[in-house]
Amino acid sequence: MNNPPEAREHWSNSLGFILAAAGSAIGLGNIWKFPYITGENGGGAFVLVYLLCIAVIGAPVMICEFTMGRHTQRNPVGAFKCLSPRSSRLAHLIGLGILLSGIFLLCFQNWGWGVLLIAAGLLIFRYGWILAGVMGVIAGFTILSFYSVVAGWTIGYVFKAVAGQLHFAEVAVAKNHFLAFIDSPAWTISCHFIFMLLCVLIVYKGVKAGIERWSKILMPLLFLLLVVLIIRALTLPGAAAGVRFYLTPDFGKITTGSVLIALGHAFFSLSLGMGAMITYGSYMGREQNIFAATLSVVVLDTLVALMAGLAIFPAVFAQGFGPDAGPGLVFQVLPTVFNQIPLGAFWATLFFLLLLVAALTSGISLLEVVTAYFVDERGWKRHRAAVVFGLAIFFLGALCAISVADWHRLEWIHHLLTRIFGHVKDSFFDVMDNISSNWLLPLGGLFISLFVGWIWGTKKAVDEIRQGSHNFADVHLVSLLAGLKDDPSHNSELHVITLASVWGIFIRFISPVAVLIAFLHTIGWLDFRPKTPPAEPPPIEQPAEK
Ligand code: PFF
Repeated sequence: MNNPPEAREHWSNSLGFILAAAGSAIGLGNIWKFPYITGENGGGAFVLVYLLCIAVIGAPVMICEFTMGRHTQRNPVGAFKCLSPRSSRLAHLIGLGILLSGIFLLCFQNWGWGVLLIAAGLLIFRYGWILAGVMGVIAGFTILSFYSVVAGWTIGYVFKAVAGQLHFAEVAVAKNHFLAFIDSPAWTISCHFIFMLLCVLIVYKGVKAGIERWSKILMPLLFLLLVVLIIRALTLPGAAAGVRFYLTPDFGKITTGSVLIALGHAFFSLSLGMGAMITYGSYMGREQNIFAATLSVVVLDTLVALMAGLAIFPAVFAQGFGPDAGPGLVFQVLPTVFNQIPLGAFWATLFFLLLLVAALTSGISLLEVVTAYFVDERGWKRHRAAVVFGLAIFFLGALCAISVADWHRLEWIHHLLTRIFGHVKDSFFDVMDNISSNWLLPLGGLFISLFVGWIWGTKKAVDEIRQGSHNFADVHLVSLLAGLKDDPSHNSELHVITLASVWGIFIRFISPVAVLIAFLHTIGWLDFRPKTPPAEPPPIEQPAEK
């Protein structure tokens, strides 16, 4: 039932593609999450570590995704199917490892995880690398289910800002208001519905008339809103303290944990590890330059994250607040900040509109992954796939929306999960976030780099990258950096230090190892935290402070 490749829609030009891919990358991750994790991990030094992760791991993996997508002209499942060998020893080895871990867990009577891992191991034996693509489609589903809830909150806050309801004298009041809002299902589900409706309408229209057209409108709008907000923040009295916190590196504050947070966030922020970029790459023409496109998307995504920090920290410091408010930074601290400056309601509206625009262009890419799979592999019509899965994600997201505070409204699901997997303390929302951000994305990134580096092979991948790359791949890296790319004597076959060869080394060795370490740390199998020495006995008993 596969559609012939000729029937596939393509982006109209490089700009359309770059804006759409940047639209996917730039989202809540940049404006909501990046500033607060920077705030929690010590500011400037964390920013530098993050930039390193983006350059060393994010960009090479993005090149893999674009290349797989363009070469196969397929969604993630189709792409792995097209490129997989009949049988792969590496896949069998991974399958065996997972199967044995499952049997090991069963021996310890961990039934839920044991059965899950045994099933995963057997599926890997049967389907091999195709499962990595399937994982991507599942991740599109789970990420959008909680992402659209947070995007729904921003819609709620746009309404509140317009209605002038965000008048908070202190953060504690803003916090209570926020908690009451996210705990009122009628509101959060309605806003989540509006967001999913917008995503479905855009994806329904197709690649050019929907995704590309709206990315071309929304991305410049986002940029403009951000610039206006930065100017406002930097011109507030006392803003310099925020700029100093943000831009002065203090490496004493960097721990292994913060390096791993930076790595995980690089994946989330660049939309990597779940095939969103494979899907967008599959609408790319052969005349487009994959290196240049990757560079543009990475630079735009990083620039917006840095700019978001520059809009937020100066304002937060100028009003005397701390930077480490966590996930509540933009929903609790910022409204309080806006309340203290002239025309606060206007600035608040602008800010939440900015957040909404960023979330929308990412939300459509998540829905597009699921849609493209059903269109390519199952022969569905795009309209039907967008509506059916938009609705399915809406229902799953509604569960996230009503369980965000705790499980009390979904006791039966909690009970079920606890019986299968043991103690589950976080809400359904957190479970979805945890499954996708801590498991599916890093594992997806690991499998994509292993697959391109060792199974499909960097040789075939580079043949694909060469098309449209105007000799970028093969010119000596030093000549390229020196601006001598087109000099005839700098194109000798002897050149081995090229963009292509450096990329190959990264993708075969550095990315898989780094991602594996990060993954094992996240799931708790590797612990780098310094062991705390046994506490010394307290010298003299002190009366407890009241
Ligand atoms: N990159 C998006 C953000 O930073 O908000 C989130 C995201 C979108 C992750 C699409 C994964 C994805 F496929």
